[in-house]
Amino acid sequence: MTTLIHHIAEVRDALDQERANGRTIGFVPTMGALHSGHLSLIERTRAECDVVVVSVFVNPLQFGPSEDFSKYPRTLEEDTKLCEEVKADIVFAPSVDEMYPAEPLVTLSAGRLGTILCGHTRPGHFDGVATVVAKLFNATGRCRAYFGRKDAQQLVVIKALVRDLGMPVEVIGCDTVREPDGVAMSSRNRYLNGEERTAASVLYRALNDGLDAIKAGNADPVQVASAMAGTISSEPLARLDYAACVDAEDLQQVTAVEKTVLLAVAAWIGSARLIDNVTATPQGAAIQEV
Ligand code: PAJ
Repeated sequence: MTTLIHHIAEVRDALDQERANGRTIGFVPTMGALHSGHLSLIERTRAECDVVVVSVFVNPLQFGPSEDFSKYPRTLEEDTKLCEEVKADIVFAPSVDEMYPAEPLVTLSAGRLGTILCGHTRPGHFDGVATVVAKLFNATGRCRAYFGRKDAQQLVVIKALVRDLGMPVEVIGCDTVREPDGVAMSSRNRYLNGEERTAASVLYRALNDGLDAIKAGNADPVQVASAMAGTISSEPLARLDYAACVDAEDLQQVTAVEKTVLLAVAAWIGSARLIDNVTATPQGAAIQEV
C-alpha cells in the first residue's frame, strides 16, 4: 500500500517512527511525470532499503523565467499508481505553499558548479535544485538518496551539498535508462513530436562519436568535444547548446583525457532542451559506475 502525504510534518513524523523501529529509509526525489528511468531508481531503492519514499514536486525555484514551469507535466494520480506498482511506501507530494510558505529569503548556492555546463544556459537552476533538495532532506532526515546519472551535473551538486553541509544522507548514483534507439528517458521527451523524437537520438550518437574519438587515441578534450558538437550540428532539427569533455568528478576542464571524463551534451530539439552524458575511461570505454 502506498500512502500519499502532502505535508512536511507528516512525512517527518512517519519516517522518524520508521527509524525508531530500526528501519532504513530510501528516498527518490522527482518532479513526477514518472517514466522507466524514475522507476528504475525506485526499484533499486526498494531492493536496498526498508522504507521507500518518492517525492513528487515541480520546484519553481529551479526554473528560469522563460522555462517550462507552467507547462511541465503534472500527473500525480498516474505517478501514485506507478509508485504503488513498484511498491513504494510513501509518495510525498507537497504543494508549492507547503514547500515555500513565503518568498524564500535564505537559499543555497551551488557555487562554481552552478555556473558551468547546464548552469551557463540555466542561471540559478542548480541553486534552486540545491535549495529544494536540502529542504526535502530536512523533511526526510537520515536516508539513502538515489539520483540518476542522466543528470550528472545535478548529481555532482547534490554530493557537494551533502558533503559541504554535513547532511546525514548517503547519495547514490544510478545508471541512465534509455529507449531502444539510445534516447535517455526524460519527462521532457513528452514535448517532442514524431519527427523530433527521431531526431533526439542525435544526442546519444554524439556521445558515441566522442567515445569513438577517444578510443581512436584522441586525448584532446577540445577535439573530442568538437566531434560531438559536429554530430549534433549535422541534425537539422537540433540546436546545439554545448558539448563538453570534462573531469567526471568535479566537472572542471581537463587538458588531456588521462583519467575518467564525463562526455556531456545539451541541445534543443523543437521546444525541448535535452541533455545526455556518458562517463568514459581514457581508453574510450563507457563506464557504468555503481
Ligand atoms: P526529475 O527530472 O523528475 O528526475 C528525478 C530523478 O530521476 C533524478 O535523479 C534524475 O536524474 C532521474 N532520472 C531522470 N531520467 C532518468 C533516466 N533516463 N535514467 C535514470 N534516471 C533518470 O531531477 C529532478 O527531477 C529534480 O531536479 C529534483 C532532483 C527532483 C529536484 O527538484
